[in-house]
Amino acid sequence: MRGELRVGIVGCGRIADLQALGYLAHPRCRIVAVCDVDGARAAERGRAFGAASVYTDLDRLLADPDVDAVDILTPHHLHAAQAVAALEAGKHVSLQKPPTRTLAELGAVAQAAARTGRVLRVFENFMHYPPHRKARELIDSGAIGTPLSIRLKTAAGRLTDGWRVEASSQAWRVSREHCGGGPTTFDHGFHCYQMARHLIPAEVERVHAFIHWTRLGENAWYDGPALISWRYEGHPPRMGSWEVIASLGMRVRSKYYVSDDRIEVHGTEGILWVNRCTGQLLDEPSLVLYRDGETRAFHDLETDWADSFRLGGIDFVDALLEGRQPALDAAEARKTLAFALAAGRSAAEGREVTIAEVLADAGQ
Ligand SMILES: NC(=O)c1ccc[n+]([C@@H]2O[C@H](COP(=O)([O-])OP(=O)(O)OC[C@H]3O[C@@H](n4cnc5c(N)ncnc54)[C@H](O)[C@@H]3O)[C@@H](O)[C@H]2O)c1
Repeated sequence: MRGELRVGIVGCGRIADLQALGYLAHPRCRIVAVCDVDGARAAERGRAFGAASVYTDLDRLLADPDVDAVDILTPHHLHAAQAVAALEAGKHVSLQKPPTRTLAELGAVAQAAARTGRVLRVFENFMHYPPHRKARELIDSGAIGTPLSIRLKTAAGRLTDGWRVEASSQAWRVSREHCGGGPTTFDHGFHCYQMARHLIPAEVERVHAFIHWTRLGENAWYDGPALISWRYEGHPPRMGSWEVIASLGMRVRSKYYVSDDRIEVHGTEGILWVNRCTGQLLDEPSLVLYRDGETRAFHDLETDWADSFRLGGIDFVDALLEGRQPALDAAEARKTLAFALAAGRSAAEGREVTIAEVLADAGQ
């Protein structure tokens, strides 16, 4: 790798401004190109990011020798083909979560990375959110003893508050064909399944889900409320759950999407709470540790959701410059995707689903 990384952004929609933060902040990185089928949007983002080249056709961006790595920020049904094309064009790839709609699609992307020797990173930003990073550090240092259970909760609120989100950015998400699953339990869910795997050091074995599907129109569905639970492999017995609920009359303080996420992790010797993430629902310290009869609050952490994107972008650049694989690699992303697919299948079939059967049915 040269002394700097030159990035091309593919897909200049809602999330692009946050995704660009790490590249813009890194002293050894430049955004040199952007691409979007919407030419006006591409031109506007290109100006904002200082990109020399603006494309409306991915093939033209991939033929640009000044681009070392591409960041794919498009609807999910395009991810696999675009990532394979980028890898085959010799570019390193950062692919937004969920990486693909199916395990077969992810397998094709992983094979392209192996074949070309280029780096594939699946980007999941919750892992980089400073209170989550600190929670993981505390768990690794034994602060709560042996982790035993995790509980996640996503609370969505009144849709008129928060970020301005274009209708086009919602439209593909409520189409199962374009999204790969529901906007809640598959799209947003990838973060929660990843955190469940990230904060409890064990593999998920079996999943049970209640997901209520609401029909919004022809081929348009919303999946919530939902309650998903799972059991980890091995001993001691460890379990987790994730609940998502929309309170459409409630104001959620948020600069971004009008939802917030909270996590509670119990261990043999203590409890950790992360009290916020996407929004700012509660005025509690972002991270609290209970142990030995004492409660310790962490007040010195960066807590803006955008920080997770900035830090995740910086990590991608550092990893490529240092020649290491950034998280998530294809194998880890595959496990989280299988978890998400198991939840969807469990709700659809009204039974407990094992990760092993989801992988076996995908021939993996
Ligand atoms: N990490 C997070 O928390 C988070 C949050 C939001 C979105 N995302 C992910 O980011 C990705 C994009 O989401 P979004 O909300 O920005 O979507 P969006 O719909 O707002 O933006 C997608 C953009 O892709 C463009 N596009 C469509 N087809 C294209 C093509 N063939 N070539 C180039 N550009 C094309 C669209 O014109 C649009 O501008 C998705 O994978 C989504 O799951 C992640």
